[in-house]
Amino acid sequence: MSRTLDVEGLNRRLEEKSPQQVLEWALSEFHPKISLASSFGAEDMVLTDMLRKINPDARIFALETGRLHQETYDLMDKAQEKYGDFEIFYPDTVRLEEMTRSHGLNLFYKSMALRKLCCEVRKVEPLKRALSDLDAWITGLRRDQASTRVAVQKVEVDALHNGIIKINPLADQTSEDIWKYIRNNNVLYNALHDNGYPSIGCEPCTRAVKPGEDPRAGRWWWEPREASECGLHKK
Ligand code: ADX
Ligand code: SF4
Repeated sequence: MSRTLDVEGLNRRLEEKSPQQVLEWALSEFHPKISLASSFGAEDMVLTDMLRKINPDARIFALETGRLHQETYDLMDKAQEKYGDFEIFYPDTVRLEEMTRSHGLNLFYKSMALRKLCCEVRKVEPLKRALSDLDAWITGLRRDQASTRVAVQKVEVDALHNGIIKINPLADQTSEDIWKYIRNNNVLYNALHDNGYPSIGCEPCTRAVKPGEDPRAGRWWWEPREASECGLHKK
């Protein structure tokens, strides 16, 4: 699929386009073999609202790690009532049992290697399954979220996932753009965002940040900052 797309040309054409225009192009090119990866964070709720307004059958999936916040589970239920169903992927139970028997339930605090193992079992392997029948996936990545994300393009060939197409319609949007869209469109959002959580992942691995702090400072806060990716987007 990636070989037949002129990714550079597409990025030149789509860079000036709105997120909705990028989504319209993406659905016309790939639906139904395209799906939005939703963590139920603010960016993904914006994309959910935009996507299902364009096509109510547009696909959305979530990786349910088993360690999310109660506020996220509450939002997952409400979001499915308002926007329609999401496909939910769970970790492989055999790998999960082996991991927690060998290393305990809170292994992520013991070492970076064990934290990465937990992310691999609870997120990275389920993501591979979620992507296995797709030609493209959509994410809520933005360039100004982190130093690891400044080069995010609107259309990418995803080398981590067999070269499938990865579409980041919000790449050039700011946090202010996201919240403006949420307010203007009455988009549902995670209650944690009102309590100092700009970026939300798993409950044991996310904490609130202070005003002015880096938006991702609360993710894996006990680790060196350069480590603050979980393997979905970078090794
Ligand atoms: S993460 O890699 O550190 O977890 P972040 O929380 O910033 O990433 O989310 C970036 C994008 O990754 C989201 O917009 C979403 O597309 C995808 N993503 C992250 N977590 C999940 C999840 N649990 N389920 C589905 N997609 C996710
Ligand atoms: Fe495990 Fe934490 Fe990674 Fe969630 S973020 S999968 S709990 S290490």
